[in-house]
Amino acid sequence: MCGIFGYVNYLVDRSRGEILETLLQGLQRLEYRGYDSAGVAVDGADKNDVWMYKSVGKVAALRELVAAQCGDPGQRFDCHVGIAHTRWATHGQPSPQNAHPHRSDPGNEFVVVHNGIVTNYRELKALLTSKGCVFETETDTECIAKLCKYVYDTNTHRNLDFSGLTRLVLAELQGAYGLLIKSVHFPGEVMATRKGSPLLIGVKTDKKLKVDFVDVEFPEGGHGSLTEDMQHLSVQGAPVGATGSLLAAPSPLAAFRNDLRNELRHSQSRAFMSEDGVPMPVEFFIASDASSVVEHTKKVLFLEDDDIAHIYDGELHIHRARREAGQSTTRSIQTLEMELNQIMKGNYDHFMQKEIFEQPESVINTMRGRVDFDKKTVTVGGLSAFLGSIRRSRRIIMVACGTSYHSCLATRAIFEELTEIPIVVELASDFLDRRSPVFRDDSCVFVSQSGETADSILALQYCLEREALTVGVVNTVGSSISRQTHCGVHINAGPEIGVASTKAYTSQYIALVMMALALSDDKLSKTARRHEIIDGLGRISAQISDVLKLDESIKQLITTELVAHKSLLVLGRGYQFATALEGALKIKEISYMHSEGVLAGELKHGVLALVDEDLPIILLATRDSLYPKVVSAVEQVIARKGKPILICNDGSDTFVQQHSGIALRTLEVPATVDCLQGLLNVIPLQLMSYWLALQRGHNVDFPRNLAKSVTVE
Ligand code: AGP
Repeated sequence: MCGIFGYVNYLVDRSRGEILETLLQGLQRLEYRGYDSAGVAVDGADKNDVWMYKSVGKVAALRELVAAQCGDPGQRFDCHVGIAHTRWATHGQPSPQNAHPHRSDPGNEFVVVHNGIVTNYRELKALLTSKGCVFETETDTECIAKLCKYVYDTNTHRNLDFSGLTRLVLAELQGAYGLLIKSVHFPGEVMATRKGSPLLIGVKTDKKLKVDFVDVEFPEGGHGSLTEDMQHLSVQGAPVGATGSLLAAPSPLAAFRNDLRNELRHSQSRAFMSEDGVPMPVEFFIASDASSVVEHTKKVLFLEDDDIAHIYDGELHIHRARREAGQSTTRSIQTLEMELNQIMKGNYDHFMQKEIFEQPESVINTMRGRVDFDKKTVTVGGLSAFLGSIRRSRRIIMVACGTSYHSCLATRAIFEELTEIPIVVELASDFLDRRSPVFRDDSCVFVSQSGETADSILALQYCLEREALTVGVVNTVGSSISRQTHCGVHINAGPEIGVASTKAYTSQYIALVMMALALSDDKLSKTARRHEIIDGLGRISAQISDVLKLDESIKQLITTELVAHKSLLVLGRGYQFATALEGALKIKEISYMHSEGVLAGELKHGVLALVDEDLPIILLATRDSLYPKVVSAVEQVIARKGKPILICNDGSDTFVQQHSGIALRTLEVPATVDCLQGLLNVIPLQLMSYWLALQRGHNVDFPRNLAKSVTVE
């Protein structure tokens, strides 16, 4: 997934070298999102000049390029705008040309960095080409830069300010974007806007901000709102360049008597007013996610879709094209909870390893303030006002992708048992492909670590259009899913950097169990079961710590038993089927070894044909009501000379070994409540995938072809 980082210093003296280092460091914090090229744009020798540096590969390669070519690193700026980007190719191969920033012309009059996809870029490109624009790249993003220049050149008499110009440009774009625009025509200014792709703005000042919010500014003016004129200029949905579109004629704005500057109420942002009225030295950090901002400041503002943020003269202004009923007229400046060390590896070799070993702590954080182990109550604040509505739902539909989908599968049975509501678990992409029926008396739960997965967001919008109640279970504060759902739960697992999801899985699992407990606390008949589960949750952190002690033996097991193989099966049933699927996904996505999660009850319906003495099989054989059936699966495997590795309980009686007559390799984990056992059983599989990937020489944190959040369909 692409990453955006912008840095603005106002009345804060910085050298070019310091500015470039801040931009490069910001990109490095975003590396985990997955990318194939990177670039930065900064002021040149003076404000009428923009210098860009772009390279394929890692940020380290860009750093070398900058060091070799950046001009005078000692030149100082007390007001400067720099923008930077890591690109995950969607349109056009990875190459320096296709890397962002993209420019409007050889003079770099407008440069942009962009996350997302401009779905009407072909029409835009055709039209701008017909107007004489010369394109240099295969990207959709270049159209935005070219369009900026076209709008500027055809409206110089209008005296457009940067936000007015940006608004006209955005009216022509269709698709999703997180966007920063820098221009020599508006030195010291930057535009930041989003539609479907996150952007936040960190604020760093020595003085305390006057207020902790920024007003949203709406167009005002005599002849209708800007919006009406905008719709006239860019007929919604019509192909770009259609009659009435901005691009149909050189100056359809002739109908626009006042320039946009008068249309917009220019009020000083109250947040940035200094006591004595003297401009306040300030730095702004604009990014796709908080991990690149937190080391500079914890004061952040999350942009909403269609917000147009304009930073100039040390102030942050937020505009919107129209005032909509019920929409907030301010954006709060929040305080981030995360710490820098949370996004650093600490004394671990990889983010994934760190996050696996963080789980005793992260599961506590998920439950903190929500589970009262003494009173045996569960209170999930973000759901409280909606519990009654959810209880009256005809169905609960859980929608997710990948690991998040597995957390839904893992908790489906306990949801059904405790709530007695039909539970449907859907893969977001398939749910949308089928256009599955959804009704206003459905409750739809969207589980997502990033909160930005395109398939899940599209499914959410599909359900919102059908007036279903929507619930978000996400890890990333301020993410699209967390903001667009009616209610929800933040899993509070802390930032998860490794592409392979580990601590987010166990925290999602627990968050969903807490939701089922909260929904069923009105059922006396469930009291004993609820108390059993709550007691189990109280022990789970310590038990995870116990399981993590298997790390060294698992490392050895991988070396002796698994690393040389090409494929393996993971078998489980009941609560452990989700564990089998999740374990198989971990193994395939970071070790690139084919692995398949199989419902143990399906073994005899075909999969058994694969079993022989050479096929590694991991079997989830912890004690629960299905244990006898699992033993049967073990016997079936052994009868075909299979040598399964069992994940089983402490002191597991040797019934399995006795019955099979041979000594089986076991990884023994503590026993817990059946519906929570998957939280422990998944840990050995996480460790197996980690050591398999490492011993096969792969990049554990950034596996090939994958990104941390899949923000494209
Ligand atoms: C899990 O290890 C993978 N990285 C992937 O399956 C991920 O779970 C999936 O893309 C969903 O992401 P989300 O939780 O951010 O929506």
